[in-house]
Amino acid sequence: HHISWDPVAAEKGEYRHFMQKEIHEQVRSLTDTLAGRVDFDEGTIRLPQLNLTPELARRIQRIYITACGTAAHAGMVGKILIERIARIPVEVDIASEFRYRDPIIDADTVVLAISQSGETADTLAAMDESRRKGATLWAIVNAIGSQAMRIADGYIAMQAGPEIGVASTKAFTAPLVDLYMLAILLGDLRGTLPETERKRLVADLRLIPDLVSRCLDREAEVVQVAREMRYIRNILYLGRGINMPIAYEGALKLKEISYIHAEAYPAGEMKHGPIALIDRDMPVLAIAPKDPWYEKMISQIEQAKARGGSVIAVATEGDERLPALCDHIFWVPDAPWMLSPVVTVIPLQLFAYHIAALRGLDVDQPRNLAKSVTVE
Ligand code: G6P
Repeated sequence: HHISWDPVAAEKGEYRHFMQKEIHEQVRSLTDTLAGRVDFDEGTIRLPQLNLTPELARRIQRIYITACGTAAHAGMVGKILIERIARIPVEVDIASEFRYRDPIIDADTVVLAISQSGETADTLAAMDESRRKGATLWAIVNAIGSQAMRIADGYIAMQAGPEIGVASTKAFTAPLVDLYMLAILLGDLRGTLPETERKRLVADLRLIPDLVSRCLDREAEVVQVAREMRYIRNILYLGRGINMPIAYEGALKLKEISYIHAEAYPAGEMKHGPIALIDRDMPVLAIAPKDPWYEKMISQIEQAKARGGSVIAVATEGDERLPALCDHIFWVPDAPWMLSPVVTVIPLQLFAYHIAALRGLDVDQPRNLAKSVTVE
């Protein structure tokens, strides 16, 4: 009697692809991200492996975040958080550029690398270059024992667990929360973050797993839109402020696995070029939750509509203006604005996944791409 057993299929459980499984694992990975690091009673953050002393925290003059691909988009959110909460200037540099730019680095500079694999050649080279110039080296890494983790002076271990799908999902949201915690810790040690404010920011972390779970509960609505839009050839993703990097990340997901041309823009730049592209055949995906940039996004959406484009918006539940303006809505629960990217990216991951799955594509192993790029 022969029982056929496919270990790979077994690991995927009830899901068709690893990517879908990993999207759903985010409730768990984000719960794990908070465990042991957040003291909800005291309103404090602990990141012991970072080796961050109060003396170092006060001395930092500048932070460069360096990374590639999805990890760089997480870094773009981190820039906004660290600058806002800890008042340290932050630059985000694509590692392949940073390594050849002769960046201005001294002993009061921190270079923070973000990498799922910890083995990306360009990111490691950027770290080496920073080490030579005397920076303090930090890393936010998923793969335990990887090169990036070993060469850093301090690190934050993402609690995403192994990620198989080439298109990164749970290794995107984990560093968003790590960067939020890092910003709070830096702000606290530097005295830029008043105690009441710190306690409020820390308390907000408790909401994350439930907020993500509520986005996942709406998967069927995203599938419906994906079904309708699966044959599009182009799409423009727009976001602003803390959700501008989410436009880049949403567009990257779609490109990677569905091979649809998706372009991302900071919404305020639309008037400087991309608005010329908008017509009936160029849909717009606008990330417009109730964050401090909401009103600006509304006027951008009105301009797209006036030119005949169809608009899908990521909107906060209860929003009464966007349904009247847009063709489709991806609803997300109300979230504190500094954590909103963790929520708004979920429907975009699902949208890219379902378009690719409906087109019958190899979601977990897209053509021409590798999970980790260990050569230049
Ligand atoms: C490749 C992967 C991406 C990833 C990027 C950076 O391009 O396909 O999903 O974001 O490398 O990888 P890292 O392991 O450094 O985060």
